[in-house]
Amino acid sequence: MSDFLIAPSILSADFARLGDEVRAVLRADADMIHFDVMDNHYVPNLTVGPLVCEALRNHGIGAPIDVHLMVRPVDSLVRDFAAAGASYISFHPEASEHVDRTIELIRELGCRPGLALNPASPLESLDYTLDKLDLVLVMSVNPGFGGQAFIPQSLVKIREIRRRIDLLEIPRDRAIRLEVDGGIKIDNIRAVAAAGADMFVAGSAIFGSGDYAATIASMRKEIAAAA
Ligand code: DX5
Ligand code: ZN
Repeated sequence: MSDFLIAPSILSADFARLGDEVRAVLRADADMIHFDVMDNHYVPNLTVGPLVCEALRNHGIGAPIDVHLMVRPVDSLVRDFAAAGASYISFHPEASEHVDRTIELIRELGCRPGLALNPASPLESLDYTLDKLDLVLVMSVNPGFGGQAFIPQSLVKIREIRRRIDLLEIPRDRAIRLEVDGGIKIDNIRAVAAAGADMFVAGSAIFGSGDYAATIASMRKEIAAAA
């Protein structure tokens, strides 16, 4: 897998043509699909569940599916998404009664665990969990909707998490991904990469553009310029 991953969020796709949309972004050089799950309880919006994830797998989508759970409770949906073909499963620590247990459950079920941190969430939930994670997901908007503006303070948090990940000195093949989600556009992705992110969610910036391949190529160029 490459050093920098681009994960278009299906939240901004045309849901009536979801299979085609997913194929189109993957053909346009996306690395994986970001799959936002909202329950109208933990967040004020309602999206899609494991049946839709499974439908994408049955449609022949083989790329990794990065499931972002914005739900409470968490564990029962972890089981359902693992069975539905999820690759990564991230959850919000506030939404789980036992964060460490949920991380272990995700791994036991053969998926890659991630913790998702809201803009106002402190980093304490990483203190005793970071080395058990495959992914830290920094929310750079408040979860619930696509198309919101990037919160600049997120850059401070990204830098601090990058520092903590690098301190662990984990071998490259097991590296913990630092994913940023919300308000990522061509004109700010370079700053996000420079702060230390290596996995970028973009919903409206990609699906709202006329040319997915051109948008993803521009994003990759900006990321490369950050190095
Ligand atoms: C927000 C979701 C994001 C969202 C990103 O709660 O977690 O993944 O789809 O959309 P944009 O890129 O439009 O901010
Ligand atoms: Zn998301």
